[in-house]
Formats: sequence, structure tokens, C-alpha cells
Amino acid sequence: MMDTKQKFSLATIALHWLVAASIIGLIALGIYMVETESWHLYHIHKSIGLLAFAAILARLAWRWRNGLPQPVRPMSRIAHVTAVAAHIVLLILTVVLPITGMIYSGASGNGFGIFDWEIFPSRYDAGQAVPLSAQWSDIGQAMHGYLGYLLLTLIVLHAAAALKHHVIDKDATLKRMLGRTPG
Ligand code: HEM
Ligand code: HEM
Repeated sequence: MMDTKQKFSLATIALHWLVAASIIGLIALGIYMVETESWHLYHIHKSIGLLAFAAILARLAWRWRNGLPQPVRPMSRIAHVTAVAAHIVLLILTVVLPITGMIYSGASGNGFGIFDWEIFPSRYDAGQAVPLSAQWSDIGQAMHGYLGYLLLTLIVLHAAAALKHHVIDKDATLKRMLGRTPG
């Protein structure tokens, strides 16, 4: 089933909330583990990040087939263009962020995988990670940090926009994403 103006498909709703919950959790975990230097959490962050990446790619493929959502009611051209641009930037950042995490973890010699499944092996010598490329490691680390905070900012604005539709405009935008619209 495809999305319509009245109702979103189960795929759209399930993928939106699955990806939203994992990303919000990953940002919180990422900031916490970096701030508190909780090294034991890094592998968990990478494992969940890679699982989220699979859901993100599925979502992107689904969006590609389905197109972006039509507004629930007519809106000004500028509002529509802003919404479309915001959704495209959100989609792009969700794809780019895990890739920069992989670049950093791979190039730094720390490696990454999904729990016990090692996908990109670590390179340790006497307990120290040996970088494959110090330059790519630095680029990946900086991008992952900056883009992570940029995504967090956009998510706050995005959630605020959704709430504005619900509380101030009193339209069905949020209800449609919650699967609460008839038809
Ligand atoms: C509490 C958090 C969130 C709320 C309340 C929320 C709400 C919504 C709503 C109501 C829509 C439908 C907009 C429309 O009909 O035009 C939507 C779409 C969308 N949201 Fe969120 N969202 C949240 C979190 C996120 C997060 C964390 C991301 C990704 C980083 C995200 C990415 C998107 C994208 C890309 C769309 C376009 C439609 C789609 O791809 O399914 N949202 N969101
Ligand atoms: C959508 C998925 C992801 C999100 C939203 C995310 C978000 C974040 C955030 C916000 C931070 C904290 C950055 C900082 O405070 O400087 C972080 C740190 C980190 N993330 Fe991710 N991440 C994701 C996926 C991944 C993946 C797939 C990997 C590796 C395979 C990864 C590896 C790391 C590492 C190693 C750090 C620590 C960086 C440092 O020490 O400076 N992340 N992540």
C-alpha cells in the first residue's frame, strides 16, 4: 500500500518511528559515552548504529518509490518548500552520519561490527589502535561529531514543527504519522 493524502502506509509509519527512536537514542548514547569516556559503550553504539543503518537504507528505498508525503491540507508554497527541504536534509543526514562513523572507526584502527560479528577488523598493537589512515580518522571523527549535533538541532526543529501542526494549526499532520487518521 502506498501513502495517500489521508493515510500513510504501515511501512512509512513503522520505518519513521523505528529510525526516529534509534537515532534519538544513538545521539544521546553517543554524547554520553564521549563526555564520560565510557569506552565499553562504544561497541554498543556502533552495533546499534549499524543496525539502524540497515533500517535507514530500507527507509530511503521506500521513500524513493513512494515520494515525499503530500501535505494534509493546502499550504503556502514557501511552507511546502521548507518542509520538503527539511525532510530531504533529514534523510541525507541519517545516511551520511553512520557512514562517517564507519570511516572514523575503520580508519582509526578501532574497527566496527554488530555485537559478536566483526565487520571491519580492529588493528591493535600493544593495546593501542594502529590507524589505517590518521587523516581519514580525523576527518571521519570531526564530521561524525559536527553532523551529529547538526542532526540533533534539525530533529528539535522538526519535532517542534510537528507539534505546531498539532496544537496550533490543529491539522492531521502528526495524527497521520501516528496512524490515527481514518480512510
Ligand atoms: C519526536 C520526534 C518526531 C516527531 C514528533 C516527528 C513527526 C513527524 C511527522 C508528523 C511527519 C509527517 C510530516 C508530513 O506529513 O509532512 C514526519 C516526517 C518525517 N520525519 Fe519525523 N518526527 C520525529 C522524529 C524524526 C527523526 C528523529 C527523524 C530522522 C532523523 C525524522 C525524519 C522525518 C522524515 C525524513 C520525514 C518525511 C517523511 C518520511 O520520510 O517518512 N523524524 N515526522
Ligand atoms: C545514525 C546513526 C548514528 C548516530 C545518530 C550517531 C551519533 C553520534 C553522536 C551524536 C556522537 C557523539 C559525538 C561527539 O560528542 O563528538 C557519536 C559518537 C561516536 N560514534 Fe556515532 N552515531 C551513529 C552511528 C555510528 C556508527 C555506525 C559508528 C561506527 C561504526 C559510530 C561510531 C561512533 C564513535 C566511534 C563515536 C565516538 C567519537 C569520538 O570519540 O569523538 N556511530 N555518534
